[in-house]
Amino acid sequence: MRIAACLLMGLAFAAALQASALPEDVKTAVLSNPVSVHKGKQEFGRTCAMCHGSGGTGGVGKRLADRHLQPDYVFQTISNGLRRGASFMPSFGQKLSEQVRWELVAYIMSLGSGRQGGN
Ligand code: HEC
Repeated sequence: MRIAACLLMGLAFAAALQASALPEDVKTAVLSNPVSVHKGKQEFGRTCAMCHGSGGTGGVGKRLADRHLQPDYVFQTISNGLRRGASFMPSFGQKLSEQVRWELVAYIMSLGSGRQGGN
């Protein structure tokens, strides 16, 4: 009886692990890795800086440095793009891997809380 109960709990636990092994996994791994900020910075320079300015200081697209943007919101915006009035940001969901998109989030987060630029 006890063994059966343990087995059941083990199964439930395994199922729960599997359910959370989806995107959250990549997110947690990337955001907790210090190298991600550096990689995100490089990608930002290639792909985003022409609109958001080097170091996220703003241009055609809004300033991203020193804002208190939520990681999930930033990830969604990169993935799906954004239209705001006449302004338009293309979506990068097809062009950049999930990993790279989270690295960009890590970089943008590093520009917050009073830190300047990133250059
Ligand atoms: C073609 C120009 C362009 C490119 C390239 C671009 N963006 Fe944008 N981005 C915009 C515009 C325009 C907006 C919407 C208006 C605004 O918020 O400035 C926007 C909005 C955003 C927002 C939401 C800002 C807010 O205040 O809600 C984030 C985050 C963002 N961009 C990140 C990125 C990242 C990361 C990249 C590179 C993968 C990128 N953008 C590439 C033009 C661009």
